[in-house]
Formats: sequence, structure tokens, C-alpha cells
Amino acid sequence: MKKLPRKARSRMGKPDRVSAHEDRRRPRFSRELSVLYEDDAVVVLDKPAGLLAVPIDNLQMAFNGESNAHHRYVAFAKKADDEGYGEVASLFRAAARAEEIHASNHSAVIRKLGAEPKATIEAPAVASTRENLQVAISGETYERDQMYPAFISEAKASKNSEAIRTFTYALKTEAEHARLYSEALKNLDKLRGKSRTYYVCGVCGALAAAVSIPGVAELNQP
Ligand SMILES: [Fe+2]
Ligand SMILES: [Fe+2]
Repeated sequence: MKKLPRKARSRMGKPDRVSAHEDRRRPRFSRELSVLYEDDAVVVLDKPAGLLAVPIDNLQMAFNGESNAHHRYVAFAKKADDEGYGEVASLFRAAARAEEIHASNHSAVIRKLGAEPKATIEAPAVASTRENLQVAISGETYERDQMYPAFISEAKASKNSEAIRTFTYALKTEAEHARLYSEALKNLDKLRGKSRTYYVCGVCGALAAAVSIPGVAELNQP
């Protein structure tokens, strides 16, 4: 067995505990594990052989984001209907369902790790449909270009295949949302009084327009 450095040995016998509310730089775990040694680069945990310790902060952050996005898009859909943009309302409603599927996928992985999914739902700030589309594009772009790529890298480092899968499903869908919202914003003046049917995949949240796929729900009803 490899010898621990002097500092490590000096800390042995005074085990610390990892809990869900400690320093954010320290990974969070789905159960309490004793910390035998810790410095700026290394954490030595007393854990059973075979137990893969996986940080769940990213999953909780993603669950919170998807849950709020769902509520935000439902509110944006209602506003789009009120302003007569039926097709944009359909798009917001379909995206809201996709975000709900992402939240549900993330929550399943969180529960598998032994934790409870937690979201703080904030009241959505609803403006005009044009402004709401801009807000939606900026949120989707952040998730597509920064948040999910970083979360996928960290999930790969943790070798958590279920986290990789749920983050990848979301990443691909957010890229599509960003594209569809950008198109809607560009053509907004032409979309008054129109409506459209979108289909949402119940597994990954992917959207499809005007195609019939068995087992995929149609979402164009207010
Ligand atoms: Fe999403
Ligand atoms: Fe999205």
C-alpha cells in the first residue's frame, strides 16, 4: 500500500465528515463519508470498496434550472397567446414540456444517488413576446454552450454514465430550442394568428414539427 504523506498521517484518527452544506469547493456526496485527509489537491475518503463517490451538485443545479425553465415557458406561452402569436405559444408550450422531461430525467439520477431533487421555483418575469424570446434564447444559449458541456465533462470524469446521458439529452434539445426561438424572433411579425403542432419525445425531450411518431405526445393545445 502506498504510504500517505506526513501531513496525511498526522491528520489520520481525526476524521471529518462530508455533508451537503459544507464548502462548495468540496464535492457533495449522496451519503456521508469520513474524510481521512484533505489538502488543496487531494481528498482521502473512508468509503466501502466499489462505491463510486459522485458529486451531485451539477445534477441539482440542472434540475433547478429545468424546473424553472418549464414554469417560465408556460408563462411565456400564455403571453404569446394573449398577444396573438399562436405559433410562438405552441413553441413555448412544447419547450416547456421538454424542460419538464429533462427535470424528470435529472431527478431520477439524483434519486439513484440517494439524494432528494430540490428546486426553488421563482415567479417568471413576463414581458412582451419579443422580449420573452430574447430571454429564452439567452438561457438556451448559456445551457448549450457553457452549462451542459461543463456538466458532461465532469460527469465523464466521475464515470457516471447516467449523468452523462441525461445531460446529453438536455444539451441536444437546448441547442434545438435556441435555434427555434431565434427563428421565431426573426420572423415574429409573420407569426401573428398562426399556430403549429409540435411533437415532444418523452425520453429525451427532442422536438419535431408536424411529424407523427408513435408514443410521442402532441402538444399544441393551450
Ligand atoms: Fe432543458
Ligand atoms: Fe430548453
